[in-house]
Amino acid sequence: MKIFPQGFWWGSATSAAQSEGSSLKGGKSASIWDHWHAIQPERFHNGVGCADASTFYENWRDDIALMKELGHNSFRTSIAWSRLIPSGDGEINQEAVDFYSNVIDELIEQGIEPFINLYHFDMPLCMQEKGGWESREVVDAYANYAKTCFVLFGDRVVKWFTHNEPIVPVEGGYLYDFHYPNIVDFKRAATVAHNTLVAHSKAVIAYRSLGLKGEIGIILNLTPSYPRSQNQADLLAAERADLLFNRSFLDPVTKGEYPSELVTLLSEYGQLPGCHDGDLEIIKAGVVDLLGVNFYFPRRVQAPRYAPHPDALFMPEWFFEPYEMPGRKMNPHRGWEIYEEAMYDIAINLKDNYNNIPWFVSENGMGVEGEEKFRAESFQIQDDYRIEFVKEHLSWLHKAIDEGANCKGYHLWTFIDCWSWCNAYKNRYGWIELDLETQARRMKKSGQWFAQVSNDNGFE
Ligand code: BG6
Repeated sequence: MKIFPQGFWWGSATSAAQSEGSSLKGGKSASIWDHWHAIQPERFHNGVGCADASTFYENWRDDIALMKELGHNSFRTSIAWSRLIPSGDGEINQEAVDFYSNVIDELIEQGIEPFINLYHFDMPLCMQEKGGWESREVVDAYANYAKTCFVLFGDRVVKWFTHNEPIVPVEGGYLYDFHYPNIVDFKRAATVAHNTLVAHSKAVIAYRSLGLKGEIGIILNLTPSYPRSQNQADLLAAERADLLFNRSFLDPVTKGEYPSELVTLLSEYGQLPGCHDGDLEIIKAGVVDLLGVNFYFPRRVQAPRYAPHPDALFMPEWFFEPYEMPGRKMNPHRGWEIYEEAMYDIAINLKDNYNNIPWFVSENGMGVEGEEKFRAESFQIQDDYRIEFVKEHLSWLHKAIDEGANCKGYHLWTFIDCWSWCNAYKNRYGWIELDLETQARRMKKSGQWFAQVSNDNGFE
């Protein structure tokens, strides 16, 4: 048996926009996702937006009962800023307070600890119209929103997270065109990243000022960068990818400052973000108590083969190129590489280079397109591939914990098949299948397996 430390967190994660639905009901204002879908539905898989998602807004009580069946002792979701404070900064929506309060109370009642995240890609449209993360007014509005959440729910919620994968809105919205506002501009992207960090730190400062008994952290997607070879040029490419995509957030939130190599690199290319006096002190105060790590697939890189065109836009890919390792193991249903050992590498990196900070796997999972083809006569989805995927990742995690890694838990992405941004319902990830026509929920084979693992606190 591979047994995990006592009290290990077993559960799953989702986010408000991806699960609640009722996206323009209950007093909620539009987020950038509602808006983008209204003006460009063709950018979404099958034209599906987040209006209904998996109807958690109506079905939360039954869904929490299902979480209990799955053996969850913890569960992460987020609060939708545009639901709690529809104008972004101002009046609180009482219907939203009641909703989140009920969800939190029911989770606790069922023995499931709520892990609450404040921002998962869902900028209120009214805040985006003021400039989104490029605007310091929005940064301050976010800090007020965060404080409001702590005051309203901090008596019961003791695990808080300021952002989920903060680099993704930077990449999607300001570099690679897969999130609204579809800007492509590195310097603006760097400012968005910097302001997000300032916002994070202001929320941490606000939390600590209230003297509540709990922990505050952030959730980062840490994607280890593996070089094609040990050639100096490939090593440098991997180092730069790591610097830009991992250490840009990981270092400030754990050590209180940006890596000096990153500052040097960006200043060399004239791409440093707009920074205000006092920002670096604020960032120093944003060191977290707890880190969530999302991991899906590794990043393999090689040295760039060509010099950038003199008129090309400055991009991270000036420093590396993706590398497709021959023979790599693939999840053919999503097109992502599977490399379970990365779980161990992440854990050992945090242990050796980040002061063995307490952390947990806040997302890991296997997306499958066309998953209905795995339905058995019994009607249940026979997702043995997902069981295998989770087991292998957990095995590497177990080995790292044995060697002293400070990992506190494992949350799957996700509890129930959910709407996922531009991919909508293309890739299914849940322990529980969602029938889009009827909204019926059905446990997959992996859900039953996970209930056993969580009950036994380990597996054979
Ligand atoms: C994670 C995000 O990185 O990937 C989730 O935090 C997202 O919000 C998940 O749903 C899966 O993405 P996709 O594109 O495979 O559906």
